[in-house]
Amino acid sequence: MREQLSLYLARQATSLPRYVAEQVLQAALGWVPSIVGVGLRGLAYRAILQMDGMAAIEDGVRIRFADNVRLGQGVYLDHGSYLHACPAGISIGPGSLVMKNAILHVYNFRALPHAGIRIGARSLIGESCILRGQGGISIGDDVYLGTLVQLLAVNHVFTDTSRPISQQGITAAGISVADGAWIGSGAIVLDGVRIGRNAVVGAGAVVTKDVPDYCVAVGNPARVVRDLRRDPLPARQPELVVY
Ligand SMILES: CC(C)(COP(=O)(O)OP(=O)(O)OC[C@H]1O[C@@H](n2cnc3c(N)ncnc32)[C@H](O)[C@@H]1OP(=O)(O)O)[C@@H](O)C(=O)NCCC(=O)NCCS
Repeated sequence: MREQLSLYLARQATSLPRYVAEQVLQAALGWVPSIVGVGLRGLAYRAILQMDGMAAIEDGVRIRFADNVRLGQGVYLDHGSYLHACPAGISIGPGSLVMKNAILHVYNFRALPHAGIRIGARSLIGESCILRGQGGISIGDDVYLGTLVQLLAVNHVFTDTSRPISQQGITAAGISVADGAWIGSGAIVLDGVRIGRNAVVGAGAVVTKDVPDYCVAVGNPARVVRDLRRDPLPARQPELVVY
């Protein structure tokens, strides 16, 4: 029982005093609705996490290992988002938005060397996205992830048929998404993949290989269907484009 308790605590915070401080503050202020709650948390949560300037944290946001979380000026964490930042942490750059029910979980319980989740400036993590950062996830500036996108920076080893897969370890090479890219809703990006600059991933794609800069990839497994520099699309009718 004691062992289970200490395992539980080790997976919630960096120390027992930190666990108490983080839980007390989130229990006291985490539920407060409206702009009042956003203001209170914007001021008080800087006691438990790293905040550059002011961040807007809605009610019902759940943060674990808060000391490993860094939020830039103007970051927005929507209701129901969950940040679990065990080593080596989560950083979200200025002006970036994490929408409702998105889960950012570093999942580093094995001293993985490149674990962590880094998001640049002005990027959007859509509703219910799941980011698993064991191998490291690096998202650049001005990146848009649609709803329900999954970035899974980990694979289980399954080569040994005499043992359950759960006992064969993992590999975790990492995922990167370069500046200006757009990943459509429901896409799944697998470990080791780089999504290039201004690249587009279609809705529902399963991305197993790199998508080069300025290319559009769709399908399962995702295939590049267009290189926007070699084969440009006609400009959209200006009256149909909204900014
Ligand atoms: C990828 C996408 C941007 C392509 O737009 P497009 O350049 O106008 O492409 P087209 O519609 O001309 O399609 C080109 C080809 O790819 C196929 N295709 C397009 N999107 C696809 C998708 N998501 N999955 C599988 N195939 C797709 C088309 O059927 C077409 O195939 P064809 O040449 O055999 O007819 C768009 O289809 C898409 O998936 N958008 C994501 C929308 C979204 O998630 N929005 C909310 C998040 S912010």
